[in-house]
Amino acid sequence: MPLDIIVGAQWGDEGKGRIVDLLSAQSDYVARYNGGDNAGHTVTTGSQTFKLHLLPSGMIHPRTKGVLGSGMVINPATLLNEMEVLKRSGLAVDIDRLQISYAAHLITPAHIALDRAKEKARRTGMIGTTLRGIGPAYTSKAARSGLRLEAFLEHGQLHQRLEEQIEETNDILVHIYHEETLDAQKIIAEYSTYAEILRPFIKDTSLTLFNALQKGASVLAEGAQGTLLDLDQGTYPFVTSSHPTAPGALIGLGLGAGWTRRVIGVTKAFQTRVGEGPFPTELHDDLAGRLRGTGANPWDEYGTTTGRPRRVGWLDLPLLRYAARINGLTELMLTKLDVLSGFESIQICTAYQRGAQTFTDLPLGAASFSGMQPIYDILPGWGEDLHTMTTWEELPQSGRAYVRFIEEKVGLPIRLVSVGPERNQALTPR
Ligand code: IMP
Repeated sequence: MPLDIIVGAQWGDEGKGRIVDLLSAQSDYVARYNGGDNAGHTVTTGSQTFKLHLLPSGMIHPRTKGVLGSGMVINPATLLNEMEVLKRSGLAVDIDRLQISYAAHLITPAHIALDRAKEKARRTGMIGTTLRGIGPAYTSKAARSGLRLEAFLEHGQLHQRLEEQIEETNDILVHIYHEETLDAQKIIAEYSTYAEILRPFIKDTSLTLFNALQKGASVLAEGAQGTLLDLDQGTYPFVTSSHPTAPGALIGLGLGAGWTRRVIGVTKAFQTRVGEGPFPTELHDDLAGRLRGTGANPWDEYGTTTGRPRRVGWLDLPLLRYAARINGLTELMLTKLDVLSGFESIQICTAYQRGAQTFTDLPLGAASFSGMQPIYDILPGWGEDLHTMTTWEELPQSGRAYVRFIEEKVGLPIRLVSVGPERNQALTPR
């Protein structure tokens, strides 16, 4: 009867998709609990690469059932596209295999238009959002004026509520942002079509998961984004508008804390970030280019959702310790160790320094990062290509030492190390 939670331990893009894919082979349910189509989870299986934004990555296993929880904000157009992609790959996406919470919120064109208008108006203060309407959709939710998926169950409600929302947004778009208006009737027609198709999938998913757990089924909660993008616990205001952290899984699925067994933090072997905000170990030189890749491979450091080049840098252990604390992590899984092959030496941040003061914990508030210099330990690199290695013993000695160093400094075991995008390119430290 366990609930296992997978969270990103950095700023998102840690490779959670491939870890969820591995673990969900044995799970009865895999459930997304936060965010929307700002996420991009890439899973490679042989010749196929799936890039999923809304459906849980674990649904690529034919036996595993998917749930979209109440903590999510859902763009129905993206969802229907993804359902089609899975169907075309021969995977069933019917009401036996997918449930959507009646309490998840709808993203509408009003939210997307507001996201764009607000980012444009912020100019120098830009957050660098994915422009998917995420912030405005959560704003509607908190203001208690959002449309939940349950609006799809009742025609009259959907028409009236959408009309009100679009009219109100048009006022804001014209008078505050000097942008063009949206066509309410066109949007109502579109959303009525989405409602017809999605209606049978809308359920009380909290109850579904509770009943399943009581019967001894296993549930994997799949987080999107990462700890440092959490609305409360991240580098505010350069965060997303949801709760990617482990407590977010409980709220976002409607499950009690007592069901939790493992809380697994996924971290890359280095650090990346998309969008604006502090990044103490960021690199800008040739080393950055080597970590980022050219964009030729699906696993190079370019956004799955927006295609933006990611900012890259050395692994930051104070940040990782923070993620361990905030999430109550029971273990770590380390991705992309193979990308560090060929570096003569590897730097790893163990603390920060400002003036004569040393900080081993994350300084409070994003603004207080200013003037912080990372303190690095320098570890020996390795030349070997790790892609074909399938056992811990095969890893070069300095690769193993790097993994052990992280374990020791964070105080958590690393249960899995990935050395390539394929399912079999992962090994277990012993
Ligand atoms: P939003 O979630 O679109 O509002 O964007 C807010 C911040 O979170 C921006 O810096 C985005 O780049 C970042 N962000 C949102 N989703 C992801 C993700 O899945 N991976 C990495 N960064 C993300």
